[in-house]
Amino acid sequence: MKSADEIVNRVEQMANSAASRDDVMRYAVQVLKEERPHYDWVGIYLLEGDTLIIHNYIGKPTEHTSIPVGKGVCGLAVSESVNQIVGDVTRLDNYLACSVETRSEIVVLIRRKTQIFGQIDIDSDLENAFTEEDESLLSRVADSLASRF
Ligand code: SME
Repeated sequence: MKSADEIVNRVEQMANSAASRDDVMRYAVQVLKEERPHYDWVGIYLLEGDTLIIHNYIGKPTEHTSIPVGKGVCGLAVSESVNQIVGDVTRLDNYLACSVETRSEIVVLIRRKTQIFGQIDIDSDLENAFTEEDESLLSRVADSLASRF
């Protein structure tokens, strides 16, 4: 398992290379999925108008390929402009289930100051899987991605 610094360095290198933005976003999802065993579903949504549209993901197929701002944990992150960590998704009313096995979720915004470009969304089958350490790692990756917008 690579350290947070190593993961961030890899994504930064890719973001600073000639690779396309789409490839950089696919790479970020791949490296996070590979390096963190408790990340069961890893994806990126991009904000288009007032809808989040799936860009790429690794994990079980989801029917939530498009999510209105305000809906679910993903939409809430955008409407409130705040990252979300949910320890037990079964306790939420405003939740869009991708898989019945999912127990916890983290959403970290890809942004520059007040402008939101999208988000990194991760589900885990474990309860309370995400900590501030995950938020810190994902925020650094998100900053790297934001540099491409
Ligand atoms: N659970 C999210 C929907 C996206 S899936 O987790 C991939 C939500 O409530 O917004």
